[in-house]
Amino acid sequence: MKGKHIVLGITGGIAAYKAAALVRLFVKAGAEVQVIMTPNAREFITPVTLSTLSGKPVITEFFTANTGEWHSHVDLGLWADAFVVAPATASTIAKMANGVADNMLVTSYLSTRAQVFVAPAMDFDMMQHPTTTRNIATLRADGCRIIEPAEGELASHLVGKGRMEEPENIFREIDDFFNLTAGMKGTKLLITAGPTYEKIDPVRFIGNYSSGKMGYAIANEAAARGADVVLVSGPVGDSLQVHPGVKLVKVESAVQMLEAAAEAFQAADIAILSAAVADYRPAREYDRKIKREKDGIESLELVKNPDIAATLGASKHPGQILVGFALETDHELDNAAEKLRRKNLDMIVLNSLRDKGAGFGVTTNKVSLIYADGRERTDFPLKTKTEVAADILDAIATMKP
Ligand code: CTP
Repeated sequence: MKGKHIVLGITGGIAAYKAAALVRLFVKAGAEVQVIMTPNAREFITPVTLSTLSGKPVITEFFTANTGEWHSHVDLGLWADAFVVAPATASTIAKMANGVADNMLVTSYLSTRAQVFVAPAMDFDMMQHPTTTRNIATLRADGCRIIEPAEGELASHLVGKGRMEEPENIFREIDDFFNLTAGMKGTKLLITAGPTYEKIDPVRFIGNYSSGKMGYAIANEAAARGADVVLVSGPVGDSLQVHPGVKLVKVESAVQMLEAAAEAFQAADIAILSAAVADYRPAREYDRKIKREKDGIESLELVKNPDIAATLGASKHPGQILVGFALETDHELDNAAEKLRRKNLDMIVLNSLRDKGAGFGVTTNKVSLIYADGRERTDFPLKTKTEVAADILDAIATMKP
């Protein structure tokens, strides 16, 4: 935490008074804190309290009224090593999720490249409302870490989920993040993601339902932790975003994916192979569209594609960590253990299509991690793919030579 730059956004909720304790914890740990308040937050806690604790003038407006000095949201966003919004009201969460940049806090949020932490605080019914649920899900998908509110008595005297997490716990979560980042900084990671398309002719291909979401989540999480990431991606939809620290290499077929992955693997410390590679490709690729009547094709001859994981596993040198995935429909544990051995992997991430919410297309996953070093398997509950990505990287951190 020492020397880290924290932007702390405070919004207009009763929990704003707790932000003072949070500023103190950061400052005591040696961090520099720049507070941004929304106009409403000033109704709950005074800027004087926060500027005294942080040792810096608090920013609430785009301009200082008496001098006309402009506060650059871009500079602030780039200055931050962590961007924390605590407490985050339903309104600010909605603005962040939708890019409504009508105050200094949301504008700075849109300009930051730092990891963003959001600690919601609101009444029980507002927290449960489908709108809030949807907006929080959007923030998660955009890479924000949500610090879940605790249950307890709320300002309305209703009892339920909505109380901002205690400042000590918010502080610990951000401190843990910096420690993890320090562990990954400069680590070279190769990730494969998405499906592969195997061309039949200029308009047709053999492919699969992989969305690439899991691999992109791992790449973005690793980049947020400071790793140098090469993401070799098969064809995925345009909606998947990549963190600025990720080098994206787009490929189409398994043969192209092997070529790009083998090259990046030479310099990699860790490779995580989440792509759903097509096992077969057509033996012949037509350079013109196949015509139903004229060509009268009855069947396609297929040839086996290279196994990227097994190829990298065979060339792995000491110190490199190779992680694969196994998406199974039956005999899950046996199949995963067999793949771990056959491909010379160090760990395999097992997900079963029998589990609701796991597998292709969805934003959640339920995985088990199986290790080659003989340690016991870990089973995780259903989580978002971003959270699963964090679990996988945490597990790999424990394996680092
Ligand atoms: N894999 C790969 N290259 C392939 C096939 C698979 O790199 N040609 C990788 C996947 O990215 C994944 C792991 O190997 O990390 C397991 O993939 P899976 O498709 O389950 O394995 P297969 O060897 O194809 O086994 P099977 O078809 O028998 O399920």
